[in-house]
Amino acid sequence: MATDLHELLRSLRVWDPETTELPVFDPAAAPAEPLALFAEWFAEAVAAGQPEPHTMSLATADADGTPDVRIVMLHGADADGWSFATHAGSRKGRQLAARPYAALCFYWSAQGRQIRVRGPVTAAPATEGQADLHARSTGALAAALTGRQSEVLSSTEELARASDAAWERAQREPDAPVPSWTLYRLSPEEVEFFQGDARRQHVRLTYRRTEEGWTRHLLWP
Ligand SMILES: Cc1cc2nc3c(=O)[nH]c(=O)nc-3n(C[C@H](O)[C@H](O)[C@H](O)COP(=O)(O)O)c2cc1C
Repeated sequence: MATDLHELLRSLRVWDPETTELPVFDPAAAPAEPLALFAEWFAEAVAAGQPEPHTMSLATADADGTPDVRIVMLHGADADGWSFATHAGSRKGRQLAARPYAALCFYWSAQGRQIRVRGPVTAAPATEGQADLHARSTGALAAALTGRQSEVLSSTEELARASDAAWERAQREPDAPVPSWTLYRLSPEEVEFFQGDARRQHVRLTYRRTEEGWTRHLLWP
């Protein structure tokens, strides 16, 4: 097997027909609102065995507009928007404070699907953020209690000590507050659904929010 990066890149394909069944997406039959289509595609991704469909790229920007991106978990999607949680003092938290806009991207390779969501971001009330955290696993609480996200770490031993203490507290005190942990909601202004096609006739359906409601357009792939 090739080990050279560029040889490997040339040897790889997306949507191997042996392992991937690309669904046919009829945009004319799509619901009038993007949330309904997101919920439909999410359930189909789970049914298709897509690993970790609830993880997504979250793109933010520095105050000067320099972009940044990382993976976070989707905590919910409803009339209030798409939600995720993190520390307000992390790099992304600081970026959102300076520029409260973000974009999300889901890629579900099992079906050749991509979903992009853009819009303004607001922090949910602290009580909601804490309730959301306390409804999650002990590990999630321990990770949040460890804190100091995105700060420079002096040694792995320092992390091990802080993490062990956080796990011990999370087990002892399942409702321990983590004031910096914040639930954010992205209110969608634009949502795009991409269905890959083996002959590259990909279908792109974009929803845009207007004063009158959602409009829908197809885009060239
Ligand atoms: C699968 C996966 C899920 C993650 N989920 C979260 C999350 O929900 N919240 C979070 O703050 N970081 C999460 N992370 C870590 C982030 O990718 C990132 O490393 C961290 O939030 C620091 O980002 P920042 O320095 O841009 O603020 C996750 C990482 C991976 C790989």
